[in-house]
Amino acid sequence: MELEGARVLVAGATGVLGGELAGAFARAGCRVALTGRDEGRLRELAESLGGVPAGAVGAVDAEALRRAVDAAAEGLGGLDVVVVAWGVVAFGPAAEADDAVTEELFAVNTLAPMSLVRAALPHLADGGAVVLLSAIVADAPTLQMAEYSASKAALSAWAGVLRRELRPRSITVLDVKPPHMDTGLVDRALAGDPPRLPRGHDRSEVVEAVLEGIREGGREIVLDAGTKRLVRR
Ligand SMILES: NC(=O)c1ccc[n+]([C@@H]2O[C@H](COP(=O)([O-])OP(=O)(O)OC[C@H]3O[C@@H](n4cnc5c(N)ncnc54)[C@H](OP(=O)(O)O)[C@@H]3O)[C@@H](O)[C@H]2O)c1
Repeated sequence: MELEGARVLVAGATGVLGGELAGAFARAGCRVALTGRDEGRLRELAESLGGVPAGAVGAVDAEALRRAVDAAAEGLGGLDVVVVAWGVVAFGPAAEADDAVTEELFAVNTLAPMSLVRAALPHLADGGAVVLLSAIVADAPTLQMAEYSASKAALSAWAGVLRRELRPRSITVLDVKPPHMDTGLVDRALAGDPPRLPRGHDRSEVVEAVLEGIREGGREIVLDAGTKRLVRR
């Protein structure tokens, strides 16, 4: 799809990747609306992008999400692209995981993106795009990250079915599976300390791959193990 003039909702725009994606969409000529939990950072970002519509909302309140999506769609006159960029991580052995932490991981990483997308679909134009940030661990579940891996794998499985079900509307469902990036996500973990992680992947490559993936109507963005470059397919 053509991004120039596209109406894009970035949900979770107060995160590092969400903010960078919002900026990239704006530079590509999109009309952008934002949601995020941190009101102050959301306002700053919205102003830096020229006073775009923005609504502060937590991810785990489905009704509040629906209202935020409705307001964004009203502000933009409909939606062509919806991106869900929020997320949380936790670390530690699977046998010792805390139930409340596990619930929050699945609530934020798995259930809330589903709610957001369901709320957005009635506003989304045929031929539009849904972009979900899962992670490389969806395909390669990682030691000390069993629950995070499982929450992302579940989101990825859901995205795969959604893609097939939305085929009659020609809606792209792009599953983005980045490797580790230095965004500070791991320092904001709900629990535990990260295992030794590889050097952070170049975020600008991820952001550019997302925009290209939407333009091409791609299915997913994954890391090629040999070249260590992102591959769109
Ligand atoms: N960084 C990596 O290495 C990596 C790798 C693969 C995939 N990912 C995925 O990429 C996405 C973006 O992550 P990031 O690296 O940009 O991390 P980030 O900067 O920490 O952004 C994540 C954002 O999620 C928001 N969030 C967390 N809990 C929330 C809740 N209950 N309600 C609403 N918002 C909530 C936070 O927003 P507020 O600041 O407003 O509270 C936070 O800024 C996540 O889905 C992550 O799992 C990241």
